[in-house]
Amino acid sequence: MRSLRLAVAGLGVVGSETVRLLKSRRESLCRRLGARLELVAVCDRRVAAEARRLGLPASTRRLTDPARLPALPGLDAVVELLGGLDAPRRLVLSCLRRGLGVVTANKRLLAQSWDELRRAAGQGRGRLHFEASVAGGIPILKALDLSLAGDRVEAVYGILNGTTNFILSRMSEGMTPAAALRRAQELGLAEKDPSLDLSGQDSADKVSVLASLVTGSWLRPGQVRTQGIADVGPEDMAFAETELGRRAKLLVVARFTGRDGREPRVEAFVGPALVPLEHPLAAVADEFNAVLVRAASAGDLMFYGKGAGAGPAASAVLGDIMALGRELVSGAAPASPQPGPAPRLADSDCAFYLRLGALDRPGVLSAVTAALGRLGISIATINQPGGCDPKSVPIIITTHPASPGTFGRALRDILALPSISRRHTVMRLLP
Ligand SMILES: NC(=O)c1ccc[n+]([C@@H]2O[C@H](COP(=O)([O-])OP(=O)(O)OC[C@H]3O[C@@H](n4cnc5c(N)ncnc54)[C@H](OP(=O)(O)O)[C@@H]3O)[C@@H](O)[C@H]2O)c1
Repeated sequence: MRSLRLAVAGLGVVGSETVRLLKSRRESLCRRLGARLELVAVCDRRVAAEARRLGLPASTRRLTDPARLPALPGLDAVVELLGGLDAPRRLVLSCLRRGLGVVTANKRLLAQSWDELRRAAGQGRGRLHFEASVAGGIPILKALDLSLAGDRVEAVYGILNGTTNFILSRMSEGMTPAAALRRAQELGLAEKDPSLDLSGQDSADKVSVLASLVTGSWLRPGQVRTQGIADVGPEDMAFAETELGRRAKLLVVARFTGRDGREPRVEAFVGPALVPLEHPLAAVADEFNAVLVRAASAGDLMFYGKGAGAGPAASAVLGDIMALGRELVSGAAPASPQPGPAPRLADSDCAFYLRLGALDRPGVLSAVTAALGRLGISIATINQPGGCDPKSVPIIITTHPASPGTFGRALRDILALPSISRRHTVMRLLP
């Protein structure tokens, strides 16, 4: 029976659970693979203590420096679960160039270095698997890459950040943003520094990976229009639910057009969006993730589950280890897909929600509507829900579909009005 010799780098939340499951499910994994899975080395800053805690045998090598892993004799694959950028990048590139298999859960690394990793894999004939990098336990990447390989994916809509989804869920029950964040931190659903989640950057990295996989061409995270949830308040959530029949979600949208023609176009956006209450994504609450894939032939497909946590992430990592194992056992050469033509960035029209704070003076409303009208943006609804502070009376406007660029210009004009405060909330309306 062939042996697959693995090393795991990083024995934190995901690495420890991966090693624990590799040990406890070893027999059934080996049977399904038709090969022996051997954990030959582990690496972590506190490797001795972690290996002891996990009950690893003395024969498993213990290293503290990940750079030493690729040179271990007889190694087939490295599972990178270090987190961060520099050390994982060096480790993964070195493994791929040597022809080793790599499993990683590191969306930051993939989003920042997509082309470099793909090139290294091509040069060294290494294999790279990364299911856990997007939506944790939800097998969305294999679905897009393999199951839907014969279809044409037109769009992906997702809730890919459990922290912000939990916070927005609590806010829709009336909690303040600060209290909702504290609750998420108490439950271990938010990090001490939650800025990557709240700013939308974590979701932008994930949509970068999704879109790059679908188009075969790197969409850099910086090319994703990204807006966080900092400006969304419980008053927006309450108004949206009662007056508009919608719920606020930090939404990821990637639309792919023109792929059969000469000019592939991709539109990628992360930001707070108002989803109709009857839309399947509106029901995705708490720390759950969901992805709605719109494919030309298969139609709409909905994937739902936990996007983070030791169990869901380790499940995806083990799935990758098995996929890699099957490829290595079969001896087939690694697939080397040709990169697709670089898609142009697109921006389709959408309707907007805008909440402003205005001085309670005559003529303010007409100045705001005139600024929108000058740029041809038509108003769908306008409300002044009333407030007790005459220095900041809320005005809530929803528009008919408009180009995001034009809406941005109108917003700049509105915020320059002396009677309008700088604090405002903008959300897109999902059709
Ligand atoms: N946690 C999740 O739910 C989840 C879900 C999906 C994907 N992921 C991804 O999975 C990866 C691992 O996440 P995690 O939550 O398991 O992280 P974690 O708990 O911080 O574990 C990482 C471990 O690797 C060690 N380490 C980091 N850099 C090292 C280096 N240069 N040399 C030696 N040891 C090093 C860390 O030691 P120190 O603590 O001393 O730095 C820590 O023990 C990340 O890329 C993350 O984005 C996580």
